[in-house]
Amino acid sequence: MSVIETRGLTKRYGNVLAVDSISFTVEPGQVFDVLGPNGCGKTTTIGMLLGIITPTAGEVRLLGLTGRDGLHAARQQVGATLETPNFYPYLSGWDNLRIVANLKGVGHTTIGEILEVVGLQDRRKDKFQGYSLGMKQRLAIAATLLGDPKLVILDEPANGLDPDGMREIRELIVSLGERGKTVFVSSHLLNEVERTCTHVAILRKGTIVRQASVRELLKTATIVELRGAEPERMHAAAASYPKAASVTMRGESVMVQLHDDDPASLNRWLAGQGVFVAFLAP
Ligand SMILES: Nc1ncnc2c1ncn2[C@@H]1O[C@H](COP(=O)(O)OP(=O)(O)O)[C@@H](O)[C@H]1O
Ligand SMILES: [Mg+2]
Repeated sequence: MSVIETRGLTKRYGNVLAVDSISFTVEPGQVFDVLGPNGCGKTTTIGMLLGIITPTAGEVRLLGLTGRDGLHAARQQVGATLETPNFYPYLSGWDNLRIVANLKGVGHTTIGEILEVVGLQDRRKDKFQGYSLGMKQRLAIAATLLGDPKLVILDEPANGLDPDGMREIRELIVSLGERGKTVFVSSHLLNEVERTCTHVAILRKGTIVRQASVRELLKTATIVELRGAEPERMHAAAASYPKAASVTMRGESVMVQLHDDDPASLNRWLAGQGVFVAFLAP
């Protein structure tokens, strides 16, 4: 039985087609990332999975269940962070989790174990306000684990963190996968995903442009270096290319990671944007 299955899932806000008929399946034990730039529809997709946003069209099936009652029952087994919850700054991490456990109506017995999983056991008695951003985010993930959900959904958990914080979150996601949790996570950086996830769906403007296991994706990913035009302009044009996984500046060069192995098509795109590069090489 699949953990998540969507078919033709669509959300329209007035003229904006935020999510355009997406279909994907997440199997038990997968760490599945929905990857794409800001505004591509990640949060809207997650909102529809969680029942916070009503789809315009399409179907969601969670843990084999669908329909209003089925989804309601299935969502009891889902833990999610849409954004960092409002923890109490003057209370400890431990006490904050006790409050969340009470709100969720689940016991306190697993709190110690969960703090261990997220690496906050040593700091459990310290006040939340003294935590680093990475620790705060880990406490938010701890809150999603209360009640031992089958599925954990994390919306851009590494957002706004420094490299250390990002690494902590990556390691935590990997360890959740190792513990047999199915994880659905969103992000906008490919290099975060390749070290963390097992499967990825690449979202651009509300549609899935590629869906694959990370292993498959890495086999076909190509890195291309651009030179010879103004770096800012090359960066902007490459960042709008639908098959660019990541775009970074390096001195006078811009490095583009492609989802396919077709640099010529990137070159045509750049020319179409009025950017003519003197050098484009894998
Ligand atoms: N409540 C809303 N009303 C109107 N447009 C929205 C609303 N929420 C999101 N959008 C639009 O839908 C698109 C997808 O947004 P979102 O799902 O938040 O993307 P992401 O999480 O990938 O950044 C964006 O163009 C955004 O402006
Ligand atoms: Mg978002």
